[in-house]
Amino acid sequence: MADGHRRARALALAALDRIERGAHAHVVVPELLARSALAPRDRAFVTDHVHGTVRLRRLLDARLSRASDRPLDALDTSVRSALRLGAHQLHTGVPPHAAVGETVAVAPARARGFVNAVLRRVAGAGADPPGTSLGVLTSHPDWIVDGLVAQLGAAGARAVLDADNEPPAVTLRVRPGIAPGAVVAELASLGARVEAATLVPGALVVRGGGDPAAWPALRDGRATVQDQASQAVVHAVEPAAGERIVDVAAAPGGKATGLAERVGAGGTVVALDRHAGRLRRLAGAAQRMRLPQVRAVVADGRRPPLHGSFDAVLVDAPCSGLGVLRRRPDARWRVAPSAPGELAVLQRALVGAAWPLVRAGGRLVYSVCTWTTEETDGVAAWALAHLPDARAEAPGPPWRPRGPGGQLLPSDGCDGMFVLRLSRGT
Ligand SMILES: C[S@@+](CC[C@H](N)C(=O)[O-])C[C@H]1O[C@@H](n2cnc3c(N)ncnc32)[C@H](O)[C@@H]1O
Repeated sequence: MADGHRRARALALAALDRIERGAHAHVVVPELLARSALAPRDRAFVTDHVHGTVRLRRLLDARLSRASDRPLDALDTSVRSALRLGAHQLHTGVPPHAAVGETVAVAPARARGFVNAVLRRVAGAGADPPGTSLGVLTSHPDWIVDGLVAQLGAAGARAVLDADNEPPAVTLRVRPGIAPGAVVAELASLGARVEAATLVPGALVVRGGGDPAAWPALRDGRATVQDQASQAVVHAVEPAAGERIVDVAAAPGGKATGLAERVGAGGTVVALDRHAGRLRRLAGAAQRMRLPQVRAVVADGRRPPLHGSFDAVLVDAPCSGLGVLRRRPDARWRVAPSAPGELAVLQRALVGAAWPLVRAGGRLVYSVCTWTTEETDGVAAWALAHLPDARAEAPGPPWRPRGPGGQLLPSDGCDGMFVLRLSRGT
């Protein structure tokens, strides 16, 4: 068992080293785990502590800097990673003798004395000093903290920033016509704990139960992994049986397959995406889920190769992703402060090009998994000023009103999303 613990820490350290050199956490961790023979408990340790160490980097570095007589950025990458991994274990309540001792054992041999001394000082330190900034305490860049405080005030911002640090549970969308109770019973027999989700009727929140890829209901398409906020976007489109719908930025297909389940075999979902590789994943999912009404087309949504008019168009646009930081441990450190403004240009172009595809009396839903002003209020104001015959319709619950659209935040227990629903006058 002790050996497993040590191997888990060695693997976590290898992952952190690669992330420091530019690899993505959500890619490198599964890759290293797939090649390891660790027990399930040790695998969970690796995922939790690598993701947590990356998320909480700013907080951990502040604590380590106070305990170290050498600046952290003057240290070798692997020494710095060992310190962060140890400090994260202390932060999460791993007993100090294990957090320090086992981490020192996998640290680079030449630096073990130094790592041991610094981690012991962190273990013995009291609370963070008074006046520690929200950005340090919640481990976010200041520009993200400032943006949230400006929109939500200090308490609302704190709730979102704390939620960003909580790894999400798995949420399922159950296919229309399938009794959720049968799926719940099946998952319970695999050891999972399943609860009804609170925001979207019929959605299920699942904890435990092993690897979702092995769950029969997911393999045969009776259920699909999809966050409640994304399910609420599909609901905001109000897809009805037999309708023709375009999804202009559709890959990897979570929302397109949700729309297809609702338009049924007599309807059509044209799924456009600019990236052929991502679209192949969508086509594979549609096939596995037996949804032949999905037509995947590689295309730039700014110039959609489509004629005629559609009942509804979904523009689930590329965005800064600040509403899904809890899913991507390193994303908060990667997104540039200039990204929202740059992405808003593309978002407006996609909405503008999609509008002519909407039939008279039809609707367009614009959605983004972020909360920045440029990508939400800014795009909404532009759309209402520039799209002929466009009228905003409040998306209704579970969306909370935000200007002419609706918003959900990570502090609501789901991904952060914004939607704008426009109907086209007749
Ligand atoms: C937020 S993701 C879409 C997620 C998808 N709707 C789902 O629910 O699974 C945005 C997508 O836009 C695509 N994209 C980026 N630029 C595009 C463009 N100019 N035209 C069409 N798709 C684009 C990206 O490849 C990415 O798959």
